[in-house]
Amino acid sequence: MIYFKDGEYLQEEQMNLSMNDRGYVFGDGVYEVIKVYDGVLYTAEEHMERLLESAAKIRLTLPYTLEQLVGIAERLLQENELSVGHIYLQVTRGVAPRVHQFPDHSVSPVLTGYTVENPRPLEQLDKGAAMKSVEDMRWLRCDIKSLNLLGNVLAKQEAVEQGCQEALFVRDGIVREGSASNVFGIKDGILHTHPANNFILNGITRRVVLQLASDLSIPVQEKEFTLAEALAMDEFFFTSTNAEITPVVTIDRQPIGEGIPGPLTRQLQKLFDEQIP
Ligand code: PDD
Repeated sequence: MIYFKDGEYLQEEQMNLSMNDRGYVFGDGVYEVIKVYDGVLYTAEEHMERLLESAAKIRLTLPYTLEQLVGIAERLLQENELSVGHIYLQVTRGVAPRVHQFPDHSVSPVLTGYTVENPRPLEQLDKGAAMKSVEDMRWLRCDIKSLNLLGNVLAKQEAVEQGCQEALFVRDGIVREGSASNVFGIKDGILHTHPANNFILNGITRRVVLQLASDLSIPVQEKEFTLAEALAMDEFFFTSTNAEITPVVTIDRQPIGEGIPGPLTRQLQKLFDEQIP
């Protein structure tokens, strides 16, 4: 496996990461996960644009352009002959003695990346998944794809321990997103999802789904809804780079609609499949 670090493509033994990397000690950095289908990057520009935006939001200047970032991802997938899976890229504020404030300008960010072979979750896409609601105790800048994922990790673990595949974050009674996904409900033919603000990550898959809904002339409401409203939806699904459009058949063990993947979810999945490489 070939890794990327600061301009170099390295074997695992050559990878040298510092104990003083601010990503390691503070989670002071941002990341992206980019899907590869059939050896081709999917929505790479959108992911790199979001990486640059996340970096800017934490006042970190990446010494790479969007085109260079796409080039790195391309080279990684070629070096590792990746067919289906994803590229993981992360950037930290660099290596410096552990003090909370930013290091001085001589310290450069550390960009690392690698590939993961990962088949599409076809069985889950077909049968659907179970969600468990959990209290959203994360910070108030969920729009930043930060390395700090403790709230997400604890939520996902709670869901998995209850035999569910994904957690459903609820803050102030409002359904926000999944632990590593965005969520959508369908009620009376209208697609509902949380507005893209500081309470959620504006997923790239979320944006694709909104475009597909528009292509299918499905009306969309980007507006807050409650857990009770989620439970009363006809259909429900979560989206992410790896989970694609995963139907949700139960929330807190209560069936959504008929308790099987719904027809509009199926239409969106079909259209999604048609536009991936
Ligand atoms: N997670 N919301 C959160 C909190 C996420 O972590 C993710 C993605 C999403 C969906 O974003 P996208 O459609 O761009 O993948 C929403 C990634 C895949 C992860 O952490 O592994």
